[in-house]
Amino acid sequence: MFGLRQLVLSLISYVLLQNEEGNYPQAVFQHITPVNKSVAIVGAGSAGLAVLKTLVGLPDELRSGWEIVLYEQRRDVGGIWLPDPQSVHPPDLPETPLYPLLHTNIPVPTMTYPGFPFSPGTPLYPSHECVEQYHQDYASHFNLIPYILLNHTVLSSSWIGTPDKGRWEVTVQDHNGREIHKSFDHVVVANGHNHEPHIPTYAGQEDWLRSGIESSQTREILHSIFYRKPERYANQTVVVVGSGASGQDAASQLALHARKVYHSVRSLSDPASGPVEIKPEISHFTSDSVVFADGSTALDVDSVILGTGYELRVPFLERGGEVLVTPKSSEPVDYALTTNLRYLFPLHQHIFSLSNSYPTNALAFIGLPSLAASCPSDTAQSIYAAHIIANGSLLNSREELLQELEASEDNLRSRGYDPYYIGHRMVDGSTFDYQDGLIDYLKARGALPDNGTSFVEGWRREAGRYQYLKRGWKRVEELGQQREWLRGVETEAEWADMMKRLDRWQGGWEMQHGLVFPKEKIIF
Ligand SMILES: Cc1cc2nc3c(=O)[nH]c(=O)nc-3n(C[C@H](O)[C@H](O)[C@H](O)COP(=O)(O)OP(=O)(O)OC[C@H]3O[C@@H](n4cnc5c(N)ncnc54)[C@H](O)[C@@H]3O)c2cc1C
Ligand SMILES: *[C@@H]1O[C@H](CO)[C@@H](O)[C@H](O)[C@H]1NC(C)=O
Ligand SMILES: *[C@@H]1O[C@H](CO)[C@@H](O)[C@H](O)[C@H]1NC(C)=O
Ligand SMILES: *[C@@H]1O[C@H](CO)[C@@H](O)[C@H](O)[C@H]1NC(C)=O
Ligand SMILES: *[C@@H]1O[C@H](CO)[C@@H](O)[C@H](O)[C@H]1NC(C)=O
Ligand SMILES: *[C@@H]1O[C@H](CO)[C@@H](O)[C@H](O)[C@H]1NC(C)=O
Repeated sequence: MFGLRQLVLSLISYVLLQNEEGNYPQAVFQHITPVNKSVAIVGAGSAGLAVLKTLVGLPDELRSGWEIVLYEQRRDVGGIWLPDPQSVHPPDLPETPLYPLLHTNIPVPTMTYPGFPFSPGTPLYPSHECVEQYHQDYASHFNLIPYILLNHTVLSSSWIGTPDKGRWEVTVQDHNGREIHKSFDHVVVANGHNHEPHIPTYAGQEDWLRSGIESSQTREILHSIFYRKPERYANQTVVVVGSGASGQDAASQLALHARKVYHSVRSLSDPASGPVEIKPEISHFTSDSVVFADGSTALDVDSVILGTGYELRVPFLERGGEVLVTPKSSEPVDYALTTNLRYLFPLHQHIFSLSNSYPTNALAFIGLPSLAASCPSDTAQSIYAAHIIANGSLLNSREELLQELEASEDNLRSRGYDPYYIGHRMVDGSTFDYQDGLIDYLKARGALPDNGTSFVEGWRREAGRYQYLKRGWKRVEELGQQREWLRGVETEAEWADMMKRLDRWQGGWEMQHGLVFPKEKIIF
């Protein structure tokens, strides 16, 4: 029943919010009923937008009276796909590793939010602008903008309470640089994991850099987060370290500009492309050379680019005392949430923190899984998280969840993987089963209706097995036939059909020409 008391309460909170913050978004004071659950989301990249859309879209009876706020420190949504406003130099870190030549490294229909295809005419492997626009379109289409506070940085978050009851005290720096303190029942972390570079150091590198200065030769060692334009390396000799997406991209782009490129990789089975010379890992530096693990050397090196990946950090939770950082650790410390810089543990289903300080649905992470297309994975995680935030009783007891986690870690070990090393990587292509598992759990508990349809669409699973799309699309572009292939392609079914035809077309052509290539794999 709508009572006077409630109206008065909501008016009071309206006035308080107005005074505290002149332009607070509409969504916060729209409530007719008093807020009985509050959720803060951190980050408006793929993951944060997915969870915001899902929370906002919960049935009214589940989320009436909820306050939902998303804090994003940057000027707009999009996360890594939103370019840096200006060039950045170390030790300052760029806001994104995005470089001008970045294209998606998987076919774009397979990286969509379910039911929300890219706009017609988008190339199969589009450049980053298309992906940025896609995120903007998603936010506007689902009316997410009113819930998002841009230029707001979450500085710290601490739990005040017991394992059963309490709240998050969140400190935010607003768009005017002022500090705001607010409390929330739930925090959802979607801060991305491509922001804190992992920078190895090698014996002798200081000596190498110093003697460069002495001989007035510019030498530098930079992490790939700073990599932007290959033209900058014209006529240089460059060593690129790492065979992940960043290392491979930098090496192949530099090959067209640099005088010489050495690509230092762990597994020598990866084929060299163009004028790139494959080398094993760097062993050390001398005053005038880079020495590799096999004893071979590279002389006259000007630049070393470290595509050595990122550390898994959650700075605002570390500051709040809620995440311990213990590099190389392989067991939880005192049941506190811990990162060894590769793996955050103990987490239920890579989502909910099982720290014994707060309820099991108080702190969620969206977007940790890698070796997966992120938007579909983020969506499955978001549906799971949203329903469990709405009803914590959907989860088993903390003890049971910890036992389940132990069992799944043991299962990985039995298959030859160290869970504390692989972290949140979806090995053996397990991403689809993981996504279906999350949704099937909700169906089994009656939180979602079950009409017999799986979360992961048949076409998406099938496209995951295609082997010829990347080379096929390259040939389409070389032949200038993009328009023909994209004509009339709008719905998910039409995108799926186009990929199927392209895969067959290229497969047949390669067979005819007796071409054999190594298996395509997702590498980010
Ligand atoms: C170079 C590169 C290429 C990639 N290519 C692909 C690809 O082709 N296909 C694919 O599926 N995936 C790709 N990925 C994976 C990519 O990480 C995901 O696609 C996805 O966009 C990541 O989204 P996210 O929301 O998890 O993180 P991010 O995009 O990193 O978003 C996190 C957001 O949180 C904000 N934030 C962080 N901390 C705070 C704070 N304290 N307060 C407020 N806001 C905060 C950040 O500003 C950022 O906007 C690529 C990754 C990289 C690095
Ligand atoms: C929110 O509070 C109202 C009134 O107290 C109650 O009827 C409703 O069930 C609550 N909703 C949730 C999700 O707890
Ligand atoms: C956010 O900051 C940018 C400058 O970095 C500014 O141009 C923009 O207007 C700000 N947006 C909001 C909503 O405060
Ligand atoms: C690279 O070297 C070539 C040949 O020595 C020279 O002509 C060219 O100007 C150089 N380019 C740059 C950008 O230094
Ligand atoms: C919450 O989940 C539990 C366990 O599945 C269920 O018994 C209960 O009815 C649910 N509560 C609501 C309000 O849906
Ligand atoms: C089942 O439900 C899903 C999600 O609500 C919907 O997309 C799908 O079309 C439905 N399938 C059938 C066969 O009704």
